[in-house]
Formats: sequence, structure tokens, C-alpha cells
Amino acid sequence: MLLSQLFLAGLATFASAARAPVTRVLHESRRSLPAGWSVVRRAELDTILPLNIGLVQSNLDNLDAYLMDVAHPESPNYSKHWTAPEVANAFRPSAESIDAVRTWLADDGWISAERIVLSKSGGWVMVNVTVEEAEHLLGTEYYVYEHAEDGRQHLACQGGYHLPEHVSKHVDLVTPTLHFDVKIRRHGSADSSVTKQLGSVGFGASPKMGGPVHTIFTDLEHCDEVITLACLRTLYDFVYTPFAPGRNTIGVVEYTPQSHIPSDFDVFFGNYSKGQIGERPKLVSIDGGSLVPGGDIGESSLDLQYVMGLVGKKQEVLLYQVGDAVLSGSFNNLLDALDGSYCTFKGGDDPIADSFYPDNSPGGYKGPEDCGDKKTAFVISTSYGYQEADLTPAYMQRQCTEYGKLSLTGMTFVYSSGDSGVAGFGNLCLNDEGEQIPGTSGTSFNPTFPGGCPYVTSVGATQVVPGNKVTDRESAVFQRFPSGGGFSNVFPRADFQKGAVTNYLGKFPPGYAQDIFNDSGRAYPDVSANGLNYSVAADGVLRLISGTSASAPTVASILSAINDARLAIGKRPIGWVNPALYSSKFEGAFHDIINGTNPGCGTQGFAARPGWDPVTGLGTLNFAALLPRFLVLP
Ligand SMILES: *[C@@H]1O[C@H](CO)[C@@H](O)[C@H](O)[C@H]1NC(C)=O
Ligand SMILES: *[C@@H]1O[C@H](CO)[C@@H](O)[C@H](O)[C@H]1NC(C)=O
Ligand SMILES: *[C@@H]1O[C@H](CO)[C@@H](O)[C@H](O)[C@H]1NC(C)=O
Ligand SMILES: *[C@@H]1O[C@H](CO)[C@@H](O)[C@H](O)[C@H]1NC(C)=O
Ligand SMILES: *[C@@H]1O[C@H](CO)[C@@H](O)[C@H](O)[C@H]1NC(C)=O
Ligand SMILES: *[C@@H]1O[C@H](CO)[C@@H](O)[C@H](O)[C@H]1NC(C)=O
Repeated sequence: MLLSQLFLAGLATFASAARAPVTRVLHESRRSLPAGWSVVRRAELDTILPLNIGLVQSNLDNLDAYLMDVAHPESPNYSKHWTAPEVANAFRPSAESIDAVRTWLADDGWISAERIVLSKSGGWVMVNVTVEEAEHLLGTEYYVYEHAEDGRQHLACQGGYHLPEHVSKHVDLVTPTLHFDVKIRRHGSADSSVTKQLGSVGFGASPKMGGPVHTIFTDLEHCDEVITLACLRTLYDFVYTPFAPGRNTIGVVEYTPQSHIPSDFDVFFGNYSKGQIGERPKLVSIDGGSLVPGGDIGESSLDLQYVMGLVGKKQEVLLYQVGDAVLSGSFNNLLDALDGSYCTFKGGDDPIADSFYPDNSPGGYKGPEDCGDKKTAFVISTSYGYQEADLTPAYMQRQCTEYGKLSLTGMTFVYSSGDSGVAGFGNLCLNDEGEQIPGTSGTSFNPTFPGGCPYVTSVGATQVVPGNKVTDRESAVFQRFPSGGGFSNVFPRADFQKGAVTNYLGKFPPGYAQDIFNDSGRAYPDVSANGLNYSVAADGVLRLISGTSASAPTVASILSAINDARLAIGKRPIGWVNPALYSSKFEGAFHDIINGTNPGCGTQGFAARPGWDPVTGLGTLNFAALLPRFLVLP
């Protein structure tokens, strides 16, 4: 061991003596640990790490232009979406990038060429290394960290890692390095044992569980107390019967152990949509995803009942159930299943932030990880989210790019904007070091992910003001939770929203000090929908559930109906909708929300104002006004 190391070290010196000196640059860094983690000790130098080097995709500079070409309503190529192979070819990492990384690893002298493997997708260079080798390659130190809550341990490098300058530009990110397990599987409010069972939701955007519905209303007189399908149809002028249900597709994503009880659909439909009794979503199991008896049922019941009820009897709804009951899953597990060119299971996903299959623990999913083998839906609704501060910029950028690539094929990604106003989950805000700490005045706003990704449509929450009629203008939600909204610290302001956001900041300056929020960041949400007191059947009883978790499925259902209408007249689906929604062609297609704020971090947050605002976006959807605008587009 010692001998060979000396030999290799000698080789390295020799090899590098022949070349120009290598300048190393900081490739990724993390300013602080995610909440709950602390360092325990240095990692043992002989621990083996599966080092995965994610190559930059080629052509990404053009992604935005390609998308605008098919998504901007003024473009003659509107809706001329690409095929999946066209997308994969356009962005495949270049041979130059693969060579640069291989050459660096091999020439360094510590790693022999036959140990280096290229992933099937061509996107990742993989090599098993010891901690000692990784530290040498990356100019960093590895430590063992422990989580305060459950004592689980995790290996990560401290502060940052380095790559030679000429290699850095070919690499997105290297794992395992700085990324932490931030999957949040349970944080249900502990109001009662029932709420505990029903209430926990992954990733921080948990729906707020209320009590049971005491009187079941089916009229429109009580929409200020309980939201039903009928209330939503009236609020958003959304009355529609599908014409092309066989061709149209919509999916709802749930992350195990979120689950549902099938008979609850009949309790819901029995009260609110009798013709749909007996209907169930079509399960698309990803990485062993299945219904978990005794799982948490609040989120899934809410999302599925409302999407199924809103899109109506004829339209099948796909349920993407992601992850087994042991490991669960993350957004990347879903994206892998939908896109074989992103798919990275043989060295690719972050083994810490994402789940790896087969899962050898008892009860784990023993099959291979899904990779590009699941059908994509035109619209996908997701009511889960992270804080940006939980993840690293490279991880977020890689995932955001993937939403963009899939949108090029005509998909629409709808995400809830979060339930903590300008703060993060649990009212955590950011200090000067970027750490998440309890929010008080002076702490910075804590944006959600992927709300800041320009290629998703982020949805905030509104409510009917108590005492008002369903036909009165809604307010930003102010009972039970504040709607997530603000400005990304990672993604720059998107072109499609420049006018809208400049208008807001110019006319209604929020008046905060420079470092409280990042006024050059991508601003969210894009639109909003009611998020308060939805009547949902959960475990045989109708209960009130609130959150942007409710708003996202409502918006997704309306966008899906627009796809149906376009498909019915021989047109393509709408895909990435943001450039259209913000364009002048769509002025007047929203119910502008001009009242309410989204407090957090010891402030009132932002205020809802005429036009776009970082509380309710452009407003709630007016289906009757949106439909003709989308139908006239090519
Ligand atoms: C539209 O598509 C055609 C053919 O793919 C392409 O040549 C053209 O540059 C695209 N954009 C515009 C604005 O015409
Ligand atoms: C790393 O080691 C694991 C376990 O032995 C093996 O399955 C995997 O193929 C190895 N990866 C590479 C890139 O050699
Ligand atoms: C929502 O329900 C709660 C009871 O759970 C009630 O106190 C509140 O007034 C309701 N608000 C609206 C606007 O429906
Ligand atoms: C309506 O919901 C209640 C639960 O709150 C349930 O007991 C009842 O059976 C449902 N009605 C129908 C017609 O299914
Ligand atoms: C503000 O956002 C930009 C992206 O537009 C980012 O580069 C910058 O680092 C952010 N600033 C802070 C303080 O987070
Ligand atoms: C505006 O929002 C406040 C809470 O922020 C609420 O008390 C008030 O009733 C709302 N007014 C209107 C007109 O929506």
C-alpha cells in the first residue's frame, strides 16, 4: 500500500512536471450546514466513496432561446415541441468534456484508467475512490456529520471542493461532496393523533390540516367557509367537459409515504361529483412507489380528489407515486423515470439527496431504479418543495435545466410556492452566512425551490374573505398560513417576467434594506389559486385542508383543460406557459389580487398589488378568458 502510493505520488509529480502548472478553482461551496446537522469527526481515509462527476451538458446556453421559440405566443413556432431524442441529442455532454475529465483523473496518477467508467447516459464519469483519493483530487477534507433529530450520520466535505480550472468548466457537480439528506419525511402538526397521521408532507410545504367539515354544503353560499369543486368552478369560470381525453394526459406526483385510501374517492365524489363514483387514478409506480397502508393521506387525498374532480369524469389522471416506503424519493427520482437522458442511476443522482435503488433494507424496493421508462404527462402537478438553502446551486441548476428540457417536449410543470410567506418552512430565515435560523426582523427572506426555477409555474394561495361571496374578489390568503413568494437567490430574473416585476418594484417599492431579499432574482409565484379550507375526504370523513398544496392542483387542472381543447382542434399542448401568461396577449385573463401580504422573518413580507406581485403572481386564472387566448395560438 505504502509502496504503491509512493510510486504513484512519484508518478504524479513526474507527470505534472511535464505540463503547465495546474490552477485549481473552487468549484462548489456551501456557506453553512443545513438545519440540524453538525460535524462529528474527520472521515476515515480508507472509506470507499462512489465518486460521480456530472458533466456539463452541451448547448445549454441555447435552452432558453429554444424554449422561447416554442413557448412565446408571438413565435411562429409556438407549440412546435421537440421529440425526446431531439432534446437528448441537443444537450448531450460533448466528447471534449468526457475527455477532459477522464484525462484529469488518469493523468493525475492516483486513479488508473480502467477504474473510470462512463454512465450509460453519457452524462456522468464514475469512479470508486477512497476518502484519501477524493480529498487529493478535490482539494478538500471529508467529515462525518450527524443529524440532531435522529442521529443519522452522513459523509460530506467541508466548505467546498476544487477542480483544475480547465476541468471545472466541463463539470456541473461532483457527488458525494457537499449535498445533504434534506428529505423531510415527517413534520405533521401534532394537534391530534388524526392530524398527525394525516398531516405530514415531504419537503416542507405541508398542507395545513383543519377540523372535520361540520355541515356539508353543495351550494355557492358558503365558499367563504369551505371550498368545494363548485366553489372553484365559479371562482375561476371553469366549466369544461373534455373532448380529447384519450389523447390528453395529466399527472399528480406523490412521494411515499404520502399515500391515500382508495375508498375516500367515493366519499368525496358521493358528496361533490356523483357521476365519478368508482373512479380511481391510474398508478404509475416509480422506484417501487405504492400505496402505503397507514401512510400519511392528507396531501395525496387533497391533490388527487381535486384534480380528478376538476378535470372531470372522462379524463384519466396519472398518479406518479415515487419511492418505496423505506427510502422514499426526490424530484430527481421522478425526472430519471421520465427522461432516460437525465437518468443517472449508475452514478448520477446525488446518493444523499436522492434515493438509490435497489434498496436492500427490509421492505425496500428490490427492482432496478426507473430510468426513462415511464410515460410523461403533458401537465404534472407537484405540491412539495424545498428551501433553496437546503440544496446547492449546482444541484438546483441541473434539475431546473431538466424541467426546461422536458418543457421543450411540451410538458408543463406546476409547483406550489410554499406555505410560509417570505420565510422558509418553520419560519426559518437566512442570516448573513446564509444559514437558516429562526426568523426575526433583520433576517433575510428564505425562498423555496423550485419556485425560483424559471421553467416551472409556481402557484401561490388566495382565499375568499369571510363574509364575502364567491363572486367577490379574493385576497391573498391570510388565515392559517401566508402564501410563499419572493425572489430567488440562485436563479436570475427571467426575461418573460422583467416587465411585470420591474413594474411592481418601481410602483410599490417594498422598502426593505438591500440584503433582505435579492431583487435581481427570479420572482415567484407566477399565478395563484384558492388554498384555504378545501373539503377533502380523508379516512372516511370530510376534513378541511389548506395550503398552496391545494392551489397547485387547481391550476394544473385548468391548464390541462386548455390542452384538451387544443388537442381537440388538432393543435399541440401548451407546454411551458410562463412566457404566454406574462405576455401582453394575456392581459385581462386573470383575476388580479390586490389585497393581503405574505408575512415572515419579522416583516409583513410583500403586498399584493395591481398587476403581478410576489404574493399572488399575476392573479388567479380566469379559464373563460384564457381558453380563447390559447386556442388562437398556433
Ligand atoms: C422556427 O422553426 C424553424 C424550423 O425549425 C427555424 O428555422 C426557425 O429559426 C424557428 N424560429 C423562428 C422564429 O422562425
Ligand atoms: C463501485 O463499487 C460498487 C460496489 O462494489 C460497484 O457496484 C460499482 O460498479 C463500482 N463502480 C465503479 C464505477 O466502478
Ligand atoms: C376555515 O376554517 C376554519 C375552521 O377550521 C374557520 O375558522 C375559518 O373561518 C375558515 N375560513 C375560511 C375563509 O373559510
Ligand atoms: C359525504 O361525506 C360524509 C363524510 O363526511 C360521508 O359519511 C357520506 O357518506 C358522504 N356522502 C355520500 C353520498 O357519499
Ligand atoms: C441574487 O441573485 C443572483 C441571480 O440573479 C445571484 O447570482 C446572486 O448571488 C444573488 N445574491 C444573493 C445575495 O444571494
Ligand atoms: C385584506 O386582507 C386583510 C388581511 O391581510 C383582511 O383582514 C381584509 O379583510 C382583506 N380585505 C379585502 C377587501 O379583501
